Amino acid sequence: MTNGSPNGAPLEGEARKPSKSSNEGAASLFGRGALVTGAGRGIGRAIAQRLAALGATVLCVSRTQSELDETVTSADSRAFALALDISADGSAQAMVDALLARVPSLDILVHCAGIMQTGSVEGMNLVDFDRAFRINVRAPYALTQAALPALKISRGQVLFVNSSIIRAANTAGRGTHAVTQSALKAFVNCLRDEVNADGVRVLSIVPGRTATPRQEQLFAAAGQPYRPELLLQPEDVAELACDALVLPRTAEATDLFVRPMQKSPL
Ligand SMILES: NC(=O)c1ccc[n+]([C@@H]2O[C@H](COP(=O)([O-])OP(=O)(O)OC[C@H]3O[C@@H](n4cnc5c(N)ncnc54)[C@H](OP(=O)(O)O)[C@@H]3O)[C@@H](O)[C@H]2O)c1
Repeated sequence: MTNGSPNGAPLEGEARKPSKSSNEGAASLFGRGALVTGAGRGIGRAIAQRLAALGATVLCVSRTQSELDETVTSADSRAFALALDISADGSAQAMVDALLARVPSLDILVHCAGIMQTGSVEGMNLVDFDRAFRINVRAPYALTQAALPALKISRGQVLFVNSSIIRAANTAGRGTHAVTQSALKAFVNCLRDEVNADGVRVLSIVPGRTATPRQEQLFAAAGQPYRPELLLQPEDVAELACDALVLPRTAEATDLFVRPMQKSPL
């Protein structure tokens, strides 16, 4: 017996009962409210699509309206969009308010928006450094703050998409990205320590190179042929992330490292 959530729907995982069929009894996110940043393309779009396919009502956020429109069209009628800069003052509360205007609860918050600055420590422009920190670290921090009251009520979940650069052996030329991703990782750990007791689950997925527009640009900048079939696919990451989101609430997938099976030139 379980208590269910305050909105009456079963908590993720509660619907999963032992079954002879692999799909029968699979957990559903029907009735759940989800907010996904970075949902305009790449990994964020794939996660938004999968959450919608599982039945959640998904608020898709990024700055580019045309890309959000594509996500919403490809996802499901339960997806809708809000175009804004997550690092702008006031945007954190605006995102939470937009979701809660559509559904009664915020159950799943996915932090996927981010930028990657390349360049040496010596040559890095501090304006660019500050911008990366503001988007990759401060914005998810502020959004989490704004979302926590609702997440505590729903006993919801926060999923971070972190970069595998946090355990790279050599980060020369990628120091700003490494700094922001390591800071994000520290925030994830701290948040988990603080909110698990309130019933809020905190997950982190750490993909290796994934075939997204960002990687295409990085390969082009390095003068390397782009072969997306050698990389992780955004849908691979989304599937693993969503499997973790529907795990029974006795479990918490804290750090999901996933990398491409094959080796690419970069
Ligand atoms: N691709 C990889 O190999 C890989 C591996 C590990 C981790 N990751 C992480 O996964 C996340 C997504 O990566 P990706 O490759 O899918 O990136 P991507 O193709 O560059 O997409 C990034 C998404 O974030 C949005 N975004 C960026 N800045 C924003 C802002 N200030 N406000 C609102 N939205 C913003 C972008 O839309 P707009 O530009 O229109 O705002 C876009 O929808 C990143 O955090 C990245 O660090 C990626």
